[in-house]
Amino acid sequence: MAAELQQSTVLVTGATGGIGQAIVRALHARGAHVIASGRNRKALEDLARELDGVEPLVADLADPAQVAALVFGRRIDVLVANAALPASGRLESFTEEEIDRALDVNLRAPMQLARTLLPGMRHRGSGHLVFISSLSGKMASAGACVYNATKFGLRGFGFALNEELRGTGVGATTVFPGFIREAGMFADSGVRLPRGVGTRTPADVARAVVRGIEKGPAEVDVAPRPLAYGARMFGFAPGLVTTVNRRLGSEPLADAIAKGQREKR
Ligand SMILES: NC(=O)c1ccc[n+]([C@@H]2O[C@H](COP(=O)([O-])OP(=O)(O)OC[C@H]3O[C@@H](n4cnc5c(N)ncnc54)[C@H](OP(=O)(O)O)[C@@H]3O)[C@@H](O)[C@H]2O)c1
Repeated sequence: MAAELQQSTVLVTGATGGIGQAIVRALHARGAHVIASGRNRKALEDLARELDGVEPLVADLADPAQVAALVFGRRIDVLVANAALPASGRLESFTEEEIDRALDVNLRAPMQLARTLLPGMRHRGSGHLVFISSLSGKMASAGACVYNATKFGLRGFGFALNEELRGTGVGATTVFPGFIREAGMFADSGVRLPRGVGTRTPADVARAVVRGIEKGPAEVDVAPRPLAYGARMFGFAPGLVTTVNRRLGSEPLADAIAKGQREKR
């Protein structure tokens, strides 16, 4: 089910990041009242100064009490659960705390925010939930198992929840970006992709979010066709797709990205 953006109140998590800022701008341009959340107070206040009416709200989504406080007593018409940690790297390079933080921010927080906001949306018979997953939520690879776990989890959650909401006037859309250039966690890693591997922009992801809210598809890919089709094929031939990816150099690429993202863990 789709929702109207004009004059809706939209909560965007991860609003300080490369993709989050583009989402906030796109929603603001559609006339939504945007609540922009993240941990970086200065970045949120800069965004609010630039975009009239954007409301900054600081919260650490690794802390369950702050997740609950973020939405307590607020009317929110649309949730865009965008915040995430890259959580890239091989399993044995993680501490127990790092795994917990990745699960909390990438998976637990979107689930709890959705659970808390749904009764109000159901009561009003309108509203929408958007979950930003990744092509890593459809296709697993060496060097990204923790991130894969969180993003596959978010895919299952978003799809099943959309089914649960059939006929209520409320819907859920899960968005699957591939490699995003210009800004965000991949661009920040400083890694150059092999020739021929295409990218999309934060503005493309923002457009997909707007389409998700206004038209209500269950899933939207934001990637060049070969990558998006490869990720879909993984669903029925994972061994074959993984062998092809490995031969194309996916393992050293994943290791380089993990090295470039280490400080965000
Ligand atoms: N960039 C890509 O190529 C790409 C590809 C596929 C999917 N995605 C997905 O797109 C979404 C946005 O990623 P991005 O590229 O914009 O990454 P980014 O620039 O690293 O931004 C990540 C955002 O998450 C927030 N965040 C991280 N830890 C948090 C915590 N403990 N509490 C609250 N907020 C937290 C950060 O805010 P603070 O630092 O202010 O807390 C920041 O706003 C993510 O879900 C990511 O998995 C990105």
